[in-house]
Amino acid sequence: IPKHYENHLSHVMIPKGLIDDRTEKLAKDIKEKLSDEPLVCLCVLKGGYKFFADLVDHLKSMNNVQNDPIPLKVDFIRLRSYVDDKSTGDVEVIGGDALHHLEGKNVLIVEDIVDTGKTMQYLLRKLQVHNPKSINVVSLLVKRTPLSVGYKPDFAGFEIPNHFVIGYALDYNEYFRDLQHVCVINEAGKLKYAS
Ligand code: PRP
Ligand code: MN
Ligand code: MG
Repeated sequence: IPKHYENHLSHVMIPKGLIDDRTEKLAKDIKEKLSDEPLVCLCVLKGGYKFFADLVDHLKSMNNVQNDPIPLKVDFIRLRSYVDDKSTGDVEVIGGDALHHLEGKNVLIVEDIVDTGKTMQYLLRKLQVHNPKSINVVSLLVKRTPLSVGYKPDFAGFEIPNHFVIGYALDYNEYFRDLQHVCVINEAGKLKYAS
């Protein structure tokens, strides 16, 4: 834990080593289900960038050693709806490639966390307009929360309790993305970096 964050964390929830092991297994599960079709991996920025990079690396390595490789493309979209530790419920598109490229493609949406599920609900609705051949969603984390809209991703890394988590590219008002492990923020951290 870097010094600049050590007073702002309650505890480490998922150490990076465990994330790596789980990500490798998820890559295998995805490969099994999505077989030999070309796949567009769509990263949901910003929170998804670490998991996306690591997951795509595993899919890529499997392509090198197995004789039924899946051709991969990468694509990016940036969505935002959080201020402090609360979803505004209003998902905003900030940038990324135009989604019409996804028409007729097999799409794998790669997300860091499904919390209320509003971001994914919004993105799926937005994507369906462009008629992709298939859509699968992988999320590293899924939170158990009473605020959930009930959405569940096709592939999930870890189901986590209802705490606000940061690190491994997950942020609180843009802080803590530069933290190795998935951690729980404490009250001092929330206060220090409040908007
Ligand atoms: C966070 C997170 C997910 C989404 C999940 O993104 O990265 O994309 O919220 O929350 P939900 O299920 O309640 O919609 P955020 O809006 O913080 O933008 P960021 O990825 O740039 O941090
Ligand atoms: Mn996000
Ligand atoms: Mg965020």
